[in-house]
Amino acid sequence: MRNAAGSSRTNIWIATVEFIQVPTLLFFVFLLLQSQTTTSSRISRTILQRRQRVFSVTDYGATGDGIHYDTPHIQAAIDACHAGGGGRVNFPTGIYLTATIYLKSGVVLDIQKNATILGGTKLSDYPLESHRWYVVLAENATDVGIMGQGTIDGQGPQFVETINERKNIMVSWNATGACYGDECRPRLIGFIDCTNVRVSDVLFTQPALWCLHIVRCKNTSIDGLSISGDFNTPNNDGIDIEDSNNTVITRCNINTGDDAICPKTSTGPVYNLTVTNCWIRTKSSAIKLGSASWYDFKGLLFDNITIVDSHRGLALQLRDGGNASDITFSNININTRYYDPSWWGRAEPIYITSCPRDSYSKVGMISNVKFINISVNSENGVFLSGSSEGVLSNLDFINVNLTYSRWSDFADGLVDYRPGCQGLVNHSSAGIIMDHIDGLRIENMNMKWSNSYLEGWNNPLDFSPSTVNNISLLSFNSALMSLSQKSL
Ligand SMILES: *[C@@H]1O[C@H](CO)[C@@H](O)[C@H](O)[C@H]1NC(C)=O
Ligand SMILES: *[C@@H]1O[C@H](CO)[C@@H](O)[C@H](O)[C@H]1NC(C)=O
Ligand SMILES: *[C@@H]1O[C@H](CO)[C@@H](O)[C@H](O)[C@H]1NC(C)=O
Ligand SMILES: *[C@@H]1O[C@H](CO)[C@@H](O)[C@H](O)[C@H]1NC(C)=O
Ligand SMILES: *[C@@H]1O[C@H](CO)[C@@H](O)[C@H](O)[C@H]1NC(C)=O
Ligand SMILES: *[C@@H]1O[C@H](CO)[C@@H](O)[C@H](O)[C@H]1NC(C)=O
Ligand SMILES: *[C@@H]1O[C@H](CO)[C@@H](O)[C@H](O)[C@H]1NC(C)=O
Ligand SMILES: *[C@@H]1O[C@H](CO)[C@@H](O)[C@H](O)[C@H]1NC(C)=O
Ligand SMILES: *[C@@H]1O[C@H](CO)[C@@H](O)[C@H](O)[C@H]1NC(C)=O
Ligand SMILES: *[C@@H]1O[C@H](CO)[C@@H](O)[C@H](O)[C@H]1NC(C)=O
Ligand SMILES: *[C@@H]1O[C@H](CO)[C@@H](O)[C@H](O)[C@H]1NC(C)=O
Ligand SMILES: *[C@@H]1O[C@H](CO)[C@@H](O)[C@H](O)[C@H]1NC(C)=O
Repeated sequence: MRNAAGSSRTNIWIATVEFIQVPTLLFFVFLLLQSQTTTSSRISRTILQRRQRVFSVTDYGATGDGIHYDTPHIQAAIDACHAGGGGRVNFPTGIYLTATIYLKSGVVLDIQKNATILGGTKLSDYPLESHRWYVVLAENATDVGIMGQGTIDGQGPQFVETINERKNIMVSWNATGACYGDECRPRLIGFIDCTNVRVSDVLFTQPALWCLHIVRCKNTSIDGLSISGDFNTPNNDGIDIEDSNNTVITRCNINTGDDAICPKTSTGPVYNLTVTNCWIRTKSSAIKLGSASWYDFKGLLFDNITIVDSHRGLALQLRDGGNASDITFSNININTRYYDPSWWGRAEPIYITSCPRDSYSKVGMISNVKFINISVNSENGVFLSGSSEGVLSNLDFINVNLTYSRWSDFADGLVDYRPGCQGLVNHSSAGIIMDHIDGLRIENMNMKWSNSYLEGWNNPLDFSPSTVNNISLLSFNSALMSLSQKSL
């Protein structure tokens, strides 16, 4: 499962060569790093010299006072860096208020500790086309990135029209005709049609809409990123990986309102995504494939992830005809709870559905999905539901502990198919609900129940008659918790 882009050597390689433009040199650097010969130190010095091409935004007139727009100064530094063959654009201590800035090939923003890039909150701060509304936007660029220990802040609270602890009502610029609906707000960072993207160590905070959006990119590495959104803001996604191949996300820390890590396929597939060593809290899904799912998801690995206080844990939500296969979730701790019915999700730790978004939609197939070493504490059970045209096949659950109890007040007994499909359906809760499955292997599963709060739950395993085939259970245990265990 683990792909080439997932090996640490490749990470180092991407990290080291991001400023070099010549493909042949790339190749030799790679070989030399591999073989550890003495000439590699000579090459490393060359890389260091390239790294020292630093363009400070203050040299281009940026004040960093947080009051005056620094847009033209920042852009001038980026353009000079790009024209000079690439390097780093440095943001020293300060607050840099800006309209959209465009990242170009070879340029890495180096936002130092105590430096903040502050996104503007006016419609005129963003380009005409709403699909290009980002505070930082890289289009069609190669060897680009954002590093440093500083912050990019989207001023999300400025876009809250009415604070609501269930779900905020957000400002929408739809009245201007720029776009429609209630998602007419800027995103924070976009890499669109880029190759060799690297984001490391920065904090992205308070996006007005989605935070980091990777679209049709190749070879992306995201390491040590923290994302802090608003827990009550809708569409406050963490990282959306759309139509992109060979993406590695490591050491992330995401605390936000909407889906935290969300691969989507709108114009092409997502191949080879690896996510490791992350911590996530969200009022929506921690990891969600979909719901935009027109093309395939293939070769995905999620390993060593902690999910706390989330509305849904691991989700495959296919609605548009794309297929999902060869996906592994391993070494994951999941804690899910109910928040509010206005959010999709009902505390399911694991949720797999494939069904049509509407009567015109095709239905995707989900196959070869493994859950290994998973530990769950949740208020709802696992939900596995295909549909007659989208059967789930070859699902493995190996070493899975499921502990069920209740600590919130929301009613259970509803299953949530949103978006589309059957919507919300009355169905008594169960340890695992299964529907339209062909090939399910459960090996070493312990289900524990705290009975006093689980009224209306009936079965550990709930099969729909005649749509579930070829299940194997090996060492499956289901038991009420003892009183002493309950205090856990
Ligand atoms: C995905 O990774 C595999 C294994 O490293 C590789 O063979 C394949 O070419 C990659 N796919 C894409 C689309 O890059
Ligand atoms: C992406 O990285 C792989 C190695 O991991 C390399 O083979 C490939 O050429 C790179 N793609 C681009 C477009 O640079
Ligand atoms: C960062 O800000 C803190 C508090 O304002 C200050 O103590 C510290 O010296 C600053 N660090 C740098 C590198 O400017
Ligand atoms: C992207 O780059 C390609 C090749 O350089 C070019 O043909 C295309 O027009 C560019 N697209 C945009 C949106 O800049
Ligand atoms: C515009 O956005 C507002 C606020 O989110 C929303 O209530 C309204 O329905 C939207 N109007 C249209 C026409 O989409
Ligand atoms: C990802 O790989 C698939 C399969 O090779 C290819 O069809 C698709 O165009 C690639 N996407 C990008 C953004 O390179
Ligand atoms: C798992 O991830 C955490 C960070 O969330 C890290 O501290 C820990 O070392 C990782 N464990 C392994 C085995 O890599
Ligand atoms: C999904 O798989 C089915 C069955 O193999 C296939 O007919 C369909 O074209 C696939 N969907 C996509 C988007 O490739
Ligand atoms: C699952 O956990 C066991 C015991 O800790 C470990 O030996 C095994 O490597 C883990 N499996 C995976 C796929 O990480
Ligand atoms: C499941 O629980 C058993 C018994 O407490 C424990 O030995 C095992 O390590 C747990 N497995 C996971 C994946 O947490
Ligand atoms: C679910 O059941 C409740 C009563 O328990 C009922 O009021 C409601 O209409 C039902 N919803 C659906 C979609 O059947
Ligand atoms: C049953 O499912 C397993 C995977 O869980 C698969 O390997 C096997 O071929 C299936 N058997 C039949 C008879 O379909």
